[in-house]
Amino acid sequence: MISWDKSRQLIAKNEQWIPGGVVSLNRRCDPNICFHRGRGSRVWDIDGNEYIDYQAAFAAFFLGHNDPDVNAAVAQALQDERVLMGAGPTDMEGELAQLICQHVPFVEKVQFTSTGSEATYLAVRLARACTGRDHIVIIQGGYNGWFNEVAANVISSLPDIGPRVSPGEYPFDGLSAGVPESHKRQVHVINFNDLDSVEYVAKRYPIACIILEPILQNIGIVKPQPGYLEGLRKLADAHGFLLIFDEVKTGFRHALGGYQGLSGVQPDISTFGKAIANGYPLAVIGGKARYMDYFAHPEKAKRVLIAGTYNAHPIPVAAAIATIKKLASSQHRVYDHVGNLGQTLAEGLNCIWAKFGEPFYLARERSAFCLYFMDHAPRDFHDLASHHNFELDKRYRFELIKRGIYHFPLPLKQGSISFAHSTKDIDETLTKTEEVTRLLFR
Ligand SMILES: Cc1ncc(COP(=O)(O)O)c(C=O)c1O
Repeated sequence: MISWDKSRQLIAKNEQWIPGGVVSLNRRCDPNICFHRGRGSRVWDIDGNEYIDYQAAFAAFFLGHNDPDVNAAVAQALQDERVLMGAGPTDMEGELAQLICQHVPFVEKVQFTSTGSEATYLAVRLARACTGRDHIVIIQGGYNGWFNEVAANVISSLPDIGPRVSPGEYPFDGLSAGVPESHKRQVHVINFNDLDSVEYVAKRYPIACIILEPILQNIGIVKPQPGYLEGLRKLADAHGFLLIFDEVKTGFRHALGGYQGLSGVQPDISTFGKAIANGYPLAVIGGKARYMDYFAHPEKAKRVLIAGTYNAHPIPVAAAIATIKKLASSQHRVYDHVGNLGQTLAEGLNCIWAKFGEPFYLARERSAFCLYFMDHAPRDFHDLASHHNFELDKRYRFELIKRGIYHFPLPLKQGSISFAHSTKDIDETLTKTEEVTRLLFR
């Protein structure tokens, strides 16, 4: 029987000094396990239990934990006595910027931040500066960070969300208290895959931008329907607002060129994070030069402020350069490997779940997957919230964790396969899954 006694004790101890006992309260979950170390596809907790990891720090570790090439690049930067001076440019930041612009098709120029939320914050600020407008559109079921404008969505109960389109106001209190009413009035929360609502809002309000994940990956894997992203591009052009793809989760994970490269739809501005530096704190805001150049606009009144003591710190920059080079190398064939594992896992899960007569749908985009307990691919958050069996999802995750297969223990959270996963990991995952399903439907 698995024991988490030491984890329990540590959380109780930390609660004395940290509200909620954990840094970032979205990490507080049940079971509340204290993880200690990780290598490749495996992580260990302080009670000594071993897990195959599909959480990957909310999808950040795409090469796996403590990837040897990324670790070597970081060690080299330390050995070379690289410094963060906060004065002038560095060769490494230039090299990284060039690599990104070469690989991501619709990014001509970039700036760096430490976190995805800073990048999305700046993307919205940039859009407001470029258009001279204040209102923004976000997507229910999406997640774009923690700041005021975007703290309104993700997983919210249907009665809280209110009408399909909520022009002119946050439909509810959102993810956070403390958001000023004036901010809420400029944010319009609409459904994914719903072009009519975008047009509805754009006709009535001065919209600076729509910011969205091109695939909703904070409520599993909810894909854009054919023509949706293209339709957004057309509406943006017709109404003069900017199209921002938040690729913090999709970028570098699905392809070097991000989801924009796969879909061929051109955003005006994009944001990246997570996989780009294999878990080191680095994020990117990038896009068309005519917009990005507002960061260095010759007229002071039009210049957009970007600052941050730790922006382009040499350690995460070294990690990002090593990560991108590995992703691009024909020797490693990273995307082929994770794609094959994803397919094997999906086929195995489909086979296991088909035996039980329980409605399910396995959604997958290459290395990212989510098992829904409903009988069709979700179209948007409302569809999910109305049909998905949340209770079964919770129990399923809990039983898997008890057997050493770690998925974040909250319904709808995506599973992430890394380059370090092996066919042996997938086989073990399927064996344990079969055991769990038999238990659930005994
Ligand atoms: C799509 C998306 N955008 C933005 C963010 C925020 O990134 P960070 O947590 O690095 O601030 C996240 C984090 O999960 C994300 O998934």
